[in-house]
Amino acid sequence: MKILVINGSPKGKASNTYKLTCAFLEGMKLEAEEEKDIVQVEEIQVNQLELKPCRGCFACWNKTPGKCCIQDDMQEVIAKILWTDIVIWSFPLYYYTVPGGLKTLIDRQLPMELPFMAEREDGVGSGSHPSRYDMSGKRTVLISTCGFYTAEGNYDGIYSLFDHMCGKNQYTSIFCGQGELFRVPEVSARTGEYLEYVRRAGWEYAKGGISEKVWDGLNRLLYPKELFERMADASWGISKEDGTKESDALIFTRQMAALYRKESYPGRERVLEMYYTDIDERYQIVLGKEGSRVLADGFETFTTRIETPVTLWRSIGAGEIRGDEALMKQLYKVKGDFDLMLKWDECFGSGKSDRNDGKNHGYDTGYDIDDRKEKKTNMMNFLAPWIIFWTAVPFDGYMGAFFSLAACALLPLLFYHNKKTIYDLLSGACTAAFALALIKGAPVRAVVPLSYSAFALLWLFSCFLKIPLSAHYSMNEYGGVGALKNPLFIRTNWILTLLWGILYLVTAVCTYGIMGTNAAYLTGVINMALPAGMGIFTLWFQKWYPAFVAAGM
Ligand SMILES: Cc1cc2nc3c(=O)[nH]c(=O)nc-3n(C[C@H](O)[C@H](O)[C@H](O)COP(=O)(O)O)c2cc1C
Repeated sequence: MKILVINGSPKGKASNTYKLTCAFLEGMKLEAEEEKDIVQVEEIQVNQLELKPCRGCFACWNKTPGKCCIQDDMQEVIAKILWTDIVIWSFPLYYYTVPGGLKTLIDRQLPMELPFMAEREDGVGSGSHPSRYDMSGKRTVLISTCGFYTAEGNYDGIYSLFDHMCGKNQYTSIFCGQGELFRVPEVSARTGEYLEYVRRAGWEYAKGGISEKVWDGLNRLLYPKELFERMADASWGISKEDGTKESDALIFTRQMAALYRKESYPGRERVLEMYYTDIDERYQIVLGKEGSRVLADGFETFTTRIETPVTLWRSIGAGEIRGDEALMKQLYKVKGDFDLMLKWDECFGSGKSDRNDGKNHGYDTGYDIDDRKEKKTNMMNFLAPWIIFWTAVPFDGYMGAFFSLAACALLPLLFYHNKKTIYDLLSGACTAAFALALIKGAPVRAVVPLSYSAFALLWLFSCFLKIPLSAHYSMNEYGGVGALKNPLFIRTNWILTLLWGILYLVTAVCTYGIMGTNAAYLTGVINMALPAGMGIFTLWFQKWYPAFVAAGM
């Protein structure tokens, strides 16, 4: 397969559109690799060509048929067009058509045509010229970005041009609005998703045709109109009031504010203060019901204040550094209400979210190209075998053991839709082993405290591993598996897991004592008091501790 890319952006390889084209090519190459096809790619960067405009002399039709009288790079371009199987025209939309340089290249294709008048069968225009060469079997792809929020309604000129050039429906076109976002690192999560669709489109195109699902992803707006226009306006760095240049940090703060999602409004106005420590500048973003506004003076009382070097915050925004990691290393500080930090994605959803908890944290991009939905863990899956065992066995050791065994067999049915952890499996196995020991005649007073110890050891043992036990379950509330990369989340869970382990070791000792009294049958119920208290502590601690660290204490 021979592919020719003609990049018509005056920006050359720095073009937004070229990013899409590269993704499309990657997809095509991947398919060829899978099919063990050989792919040859040639690229023409129009901005690097020496290309003079057509003189309109028709010498290529009458004096020197097929040869242009201008000696420049066009001869080589024509040779490549004749060589290739697929031409990918990559260009930005300029004044609703192709940029000038590319239009020159298109005009200079005249030597490829014969001068005779011919009828068209596809009803486009009023006639055509036959091709001098056999162009049958060659395919055409158009890839373009434009500056408005949508491509819709802006490409009439392009459709008209290529309908005439290639024939109606004889080419494949990927047109994308909001093109300038492809150079903004802060929104790379969303543009990255889009590029993934383009990559898939290339792969499917090479296979034979782009599926409806991929078209659907390609035709979806990068961002809603209103949000994009806010971001675009903020990106110019010019004051809307008087047209003067604004400071880089203020522009950056405005862009951040533009990403605010008013759907995340929690019923009270919040004031996020950004204090850029390296340049000693302060701005506030008021997050309200109807949207956000930026204050450069006339400040209000902040609810959350972030003290950070602007360079660091930019790197975090661009995804070069993880915000939680930087916080853990105390590279920036957070004062006031920490809840905003925990809900950052919901508040400033900049695109794709790696969360998989069913809530819409970022913009709903509908991105799920592979239909992979990650299942969630469920702590009840881990706890239920123990709760049943500890409640049933003290009432009646023998019957309780049978009951526990039956429960262990049935629980997987109840939690079939959840992702299993190693601790879920160990819980089932341990309680089943303890129940069998009881059936075999082991004394209840020994087995029950032992079971509490085993449970405690599961918690304590996990403190020596990379991910402490509670993190496997609480990650669902903190961004899914992505939270496991957050050192602050891991450290919070490590402390909690250690405390839960100690609590159950103490419980094991108490249990031995209680089981020697008349209230032995109530052991399971009595032992619920301590964990209930610890549960309340856990809820408080998992919010308090990250805020404590963030405040730089
Ligand atoms: C001279 C000029 C004319 C433009 N005309 C249009 C236009 O008519 N419609 C539009 O939506 N965007 C227009 N744009 C915006 C570009 O199409 C947009 O920025 C595109 O993403 C640039 O792509 P590139 O980086 O691949 O060159 C224009 C930009 C320039 C510089």
